[in-house]
Amino acid sequence: MKKAIVVGASSGVGRELAKILARNGYHVGITARREYLLQELAAEKPDAYVVKPFDLLETDIILTKLDELVDELGGLDLLIISAGLIKLNTDLDYNIEYKINMVNVTAFSMMCNWAFNLFRKQGYGHLAGITSVAGLRGWRNNPAYNASKAFQINYLEGLRNLAHYLKLPITVTNIIPGYMETDMKGKTLVFWVCPPEKAACIIFKALNKKQKIIYVYRRWRFTAFLYKHLPNKVIECA
Ligand SMILES: NC(=O)c1ccc[n+]([C@@H]2O[C@H](COP(=O)([O-])OP(=O)(O)OC[C@H]3O[C@@H](n4cnc5c(N)ncnc54)[C@H](OP(=O)(O)O)[C@@H]3O)[C@@H](O)[C@H]2O)c1
Repeated sequence: MKKAIVVGASSGVGRELAKILARNGYHVGITARREYLLQELAAEKPDAYVVKPFDLLETDIILTKLDELVDELGGLDLLIISAGLIKLNTDLDYNIEYKINMVNVTAFSMMCNWAFNLFRKQGYGHLAGITSVAGLRGWRNNPAYNASKAFQINYLEGLRNLAHYLKLPITVTNIIPGYMETDMKGKTLVFWVCPPEKAACIIFKALNKKQKIIYVYRRWRFTAFLYKHLPNKVIECA
């Protein structure tokens, strides 16, 4: 039986990914802050899940909780980091920027680092992080979010290159959604919105193929290229 952990499994695409993994025979560790949502998910298939709620802002407990999950699962083949924080912040309230940085940068890199070293030691493993097309440019409405997603994209690429250089059998996948129909999407004008169930399906198939980069939808690959090369004048007004 394969073992996976999904961080950010209480809602959105993380929850759907946990369900798909469980349906496909994985033993799944699920975590987030909202314990009642995790328990609700676990109740659907009690043998499939191990529930371990914790807050990524409490950085001193993250690695202990992950170690506990691995012990309770009896190993780890796949870590998916779906948890993320976004908030519009044109007033540049630093408390908001700080929390986004803590969840999307500090906690994210701690968990990637932990997984990479565990996989290095055991000689196999798959790390996947959900980043965003937003990470390709800075955006005036939420500067920290886009910058944090840029960090995630580059951190995952760095780890993949390190695994390649050291010839380690570790797969590192960067999942890049455009928009998904979740709590996080908010009410801004968006297009090509993917339902989380469909996004999870696309992601699961691509993870099985050990794809390094997954766009959701695939058409975002081309849009992302254009977005990255848009003149500053356009981005300033977006
Ligand atoms: N929705 C989109 O359009 C979109 C587009 C591109 C990228 N993404 C990325 O996709 C990922 C998944 O987001 P989603 O769309 O599925 O949104 P979501 O439903 O809001 O999921 C976010 C998850 O992160 C968890 N989380 C947030 N803060 C946390 C904290 N301090 N400690 C522990 N867990 C925390 C939440 O759980 P609790 O609240 O229970 O803690 C929840 O499970 C995110 O990384 C996001 O940046 C989303």
